[in-house]
Amino acid sequence: MPTRRGVAPFPATELACAGDTRLLPGGHSGNIRSEAALSVSSVEAPSFPVRRTCPYQPPDVYREISERGPINKVTLWDGRQVWLITGYEEGRRLLADERLSSDRSYDEYPTMAPHLGAPAARKLVLVGEDPPLHNHHRRLLNPEFSLKHARALRPDIERIVNGLIDGIEELGPPADLVEHFAAPIPSLVMSALLGIPYEDHAFFQAATAGIMQGKDPAGTEAAAAELVRYLDRLVTAQEAERGESLVGRLVEHVDTGELSHDEVVQLTMVLLIAGLETTSSMIPLGVLALLDHPEQLAALRSGEVPAVTAIEELLRITAVTDFAGVRWITADIEIDGHVLKAGDGLVISSTMVNRDERVHEDPYAFDISRGSRQHVTFGYGIHQCLGQNLARLQLEIAFETLVRRLPGLRLAVPAEELRMRRTGTMQSVERLPVAW
Ligand code: HEM
Repeated sequence: MPTRRGVAPFPATELACAGDTRLLPGGHSGNIRSEAALSVSSVEAPSFPVRRTCPYQPPDVYREISERGPINKVTLWDGRQVWLITGYEEGRRLLADERLSSDRSYDEYPTMAPHLGAPAARKLVLVGEDPPLHNHHRRLLNPEFSLKHARALRPDIERIVNGLIDGIEELGPPADLVEHFAAPIPSLVMSALLGIPYEDHAFFQAATAGIMQGKDPAGTEAAAAELVRYLDRLVTAQEAERGESLVGRLVEHVDTGELSHDEVVQLTMVLLIAGLETTSSMIPLGVLALLDHPEQLAALRSGEVPAVTAIEELLRITAVTDFAGVRWITADIEIDGHVLKAGDGLVISSTMVNRDERVHEDPYAFDISRGSRQHVTFGYGIHQCLGQNLARLQLEIAFETLVRRLPGLRLAVPAEELRMRRTGTMQSVERLPVAW
């Protein structure tokens, strides 16, 4: 493992956004505002990642890095230098390259934040596997996440989202959109899909957040151990009596010898982590982008731009995971005059790949009518998001219902009071108090 040099824990500071509409403070033309006016022009491998100050735009330093070219070097929190890819074509080419490994059990795999050095975070199944094991697990799961399966869940998701808006109306105004909308949507959906009792949502939400947003490796390890114990009991119960759920169906593969009991536990844990934190983090960022652009909010509300179109731009602009992939290189790769050496670490920045001006005109402008799926917010290649059909459906229903049922939606606190959280893995705000 690379030597740890002291932890840079992304302190919470005030949000600062620009935007043509100036709902959020800050502001200058060009739609983004610099974080602490950092300049990288003279730094060879600038620090990375840098916490966003605008919830839906990258810090200026990212822009400066990408203006140097699509392939650069950056320095991680532990002092290690890795390649940062900011070009669309280069990012996709590399994500499809078999010389890249996702296997986190090797020291060469870059640790993006201190807590992700925890052993549990370094042995995640599926997302942390290479072929042939990855193919095996993915093949068993793919049918569960088909478009047809996702579409069948539409009535359930509509009921869930409407129920949450009913609750919000009873509660306020104001209400915290993170606690009462963004977090429970994926939590309710994933618990129904996996067959996990929703009564336990406080536990599994806290456990997944504890893994992804852990303060240190020990915290992440403890949260993962608790979640494994809980899921182990759940899988054992399903082995005794099959339920009509994804876990119940996975258990059938134990009977055929295709999976072990532990693999079912680990796969369920990965699905839960991947399915909860992503969607719940993205909804508040998308809401803030819309609130900062009232004319676009109006276009979504009126149906002038259908939600199914709008969510592609929300996905592109918010790029909630920040990275379309973190990998290490198993054999030298020559690309665009650079030699990426075996053993080097590599990060593909979805935030910047999604703003490649060779692909998107005026890439920092937020325009929900763009409707382009040319983004890598769901990654690319063999690890491309397994749950993207389900995520898109939840987002479409969530945004459409929210703006229609709460037409006066607005911030209930000064924007300066919003706090961006930054974990090295997921972008979001801690709370989003709104009125309507
Ligand atoms: C806005 C929501 C979401 C975003 C932005 C997102 C993003 C991503 C990204 C970038 C990857 C690729 C990681 C890599 O290549 O290293 C990924 C993989 C994955 N996602 Fe999502 N995701 C979302 C929602 C979901 C949901 C709802 C699920 C449901 C279970 C899910 C399950 C997974 C799984 C299992 C993988 C690993 C796939 C593999 O390694 O083959 N995601 N996701």
